[in-house]
Amino acid sequence: MLILTTPTEMQEWSRHAQRHKHNIGFVPTMGALHAGHTTLLQHCVQSNSASVLSIFVNPTQFNVAEDFEKYPRTLEHDLQIAEQNNIDVVYAPTVDVMYPSGSSVVVVPGTAADRMEGEKRPGHFAGVTTIVSKLFHAVLPHRAYFGKKDFQQLAVIRQMVKDLDFPVEIVGIETVRESDGLAMSSRNVRLTPENRSAAVSISEALFAARAKHELGEHSSRQLSELVSSHISQNNATSIEYVDVCNPVDLGPIADTSAGAVICVAAWFGDVRLIDNVELKPA
Ligand code: PAJ
Repeated sequence: MLILTTPTEMQEWSRHAQRHKHNIGFVPTMGALHAGHTTLLQHCVQSNSASVLSIFVNPTQFNVAEDFEKYPRTLEHDLQIAEQNNIDVVYAPTVDVMYPSGSSVVVVPGTAADRMEGEKRPGHFAGVTTIVSKLFHAVLPHRAYFGKKDFQQLAVIRQMVKDLDFPVEIVGIETVRESDGLAMSSRNVRLTPENRSAAVSISEALFAARAKHELGEHSSRQLSELVSSHISQNNATSIEYVDVCNPVDLGPIADTSAGAVICVAAWFGDVRLIDNVELKPA
């Protein structure tokens, strides 16, 4: 397994792989790898003849500087996971390489970034679209893998790739959950035992709303009220949003019969968790 640290080295490797007819699959991450990330790696390795994992804690997508500093960094452990999963290249540039002094161009995200995370975390998605563009230009992938756990991020990336003609296929992977339903996240380790038990209410609430939708309740307002009341009964410190959206552009919808996604952000102590569930067309 190779470890590369500059865009030039990465591009050279990718061009060489392309000349040898390899299909390059790519999984961008910020490291601190858990079973959710591993599932992305497995899908990538299964479907492509060459696989690249990037590990870069991207400062421009953290709207609070302290979160960036507190973000877990476990490079040795991550490299072991990459090796065990037959990754060919780990691309792990430094902040100075990615953002040398004087770099100022930003990729402005489209309308999928307007609400929810985009509204609550100003600048977050511009950081994501900028770094993902830079990573795509270095790795030159045929396919790139993103988790549905960050449903809005996936929609923002799909919109960027379409509108800016990136020659890459975006693959969305189902959310990997703990056995009780909590979506896996690098933030879960920061939950106190009490908040860890309470946090399961997010997935319980989302699954209950999905079951109601399948039984014929298609009012977005009713479904979002069900989700909010279940989470608040279970000691969430606060709910930031419960939004029922169109699954493509994430615009608000009043009725879920044509399919929808319900997205939630809630705080448990000082840990902010997000999750979502897709509702199939009735
Ligand atoms: P990170 O939070 O490290 O996540 C990397 C990828 O793993 C994302 O596509 C995310 O959706 C996916 N992922 C995380 N938890 C998951 C779970 N429980 N099940 C399935 N997939 C999961 O997302 C980022 O990094 C960054 O914003 C990045 C795209 C790398 C840009 O900096």
